[in-house]
Amino acid sequence: MIEKLTIDNVECVKRLGLKLNANFDNLYDYSSLNEGVNLTYVLIVDKSIIGFIHIQQLIDEVDIIDVVVDEEYRRKGYGQRLVEFVIHNNLGKRIILEVSVNNKAAIGLYNKLGFREINIRKGYYNGVDAIVMERK
Ligand SMILES: CC(C)(COP(=O)(O)OP(=O)(O)OC[C@H]1O[C@@H](n2cnc3c(N)ncnc32)[C@H](O)[C@@H]1OP(=O)(O)O)[C@@H](O)C(=O)NCCC(=O)NCCS
Repeated sequence: MIEKLTIDNVECVKRLGLKLNANFDNLYDYSSLNEGVNLTYVLIVDKSIIGFIHIQQLIDEVDIIDVVVDEEYRRKGYGQRLVEFVIHNNLGKRIILEVSVNNKAAIGLYNKLGFREINIRKGYYNGVDAIVMERK
């Protein structure tokens, strides 16, 4: 089940995010949860949040900021489900994102779902290049 993040579930999302990035807490402003263009959806399996996707939804474009699946649940199609959810809710819109050139899992996921490389941002992640990908 995929649903919008609520204030009750913020701690679960933070826990997942902090596993990947020690600075995660400073990256998101949860005071304006799901207001304006910022939206976070969580994926619930067996009553636990095992993944989330954070997007910025503009009128004609969506930016995927982050998609995360808990390590124990990877390679089971859950990341795909989260991205497909966003695609299906935004039919007709261009979807863009940045991903590290080193992140083979995420690049594989986005390629599988029809995203294509449109640009490289040199040194974007602490000296590591980012690939800008788009799906139309
Ligand atoms: C990227 C991530 C969300 C993928 O989630 P996942 O649930 O494991 O992915 P799925 O099982 O849905 O995989 C879908 C497709 O993605 C690709 N893929 C996923 N993991 C992969 C890997 N480790 N290596 C290569 N391709 C991979 C495959 O094409 C896969 O399809 P297949 O299983 O039919 O081969 C997950 O690895 C993750 O949370 N990583 C850490 C956070 C992160 O880097 N997020 C991206 C930020 S831009």
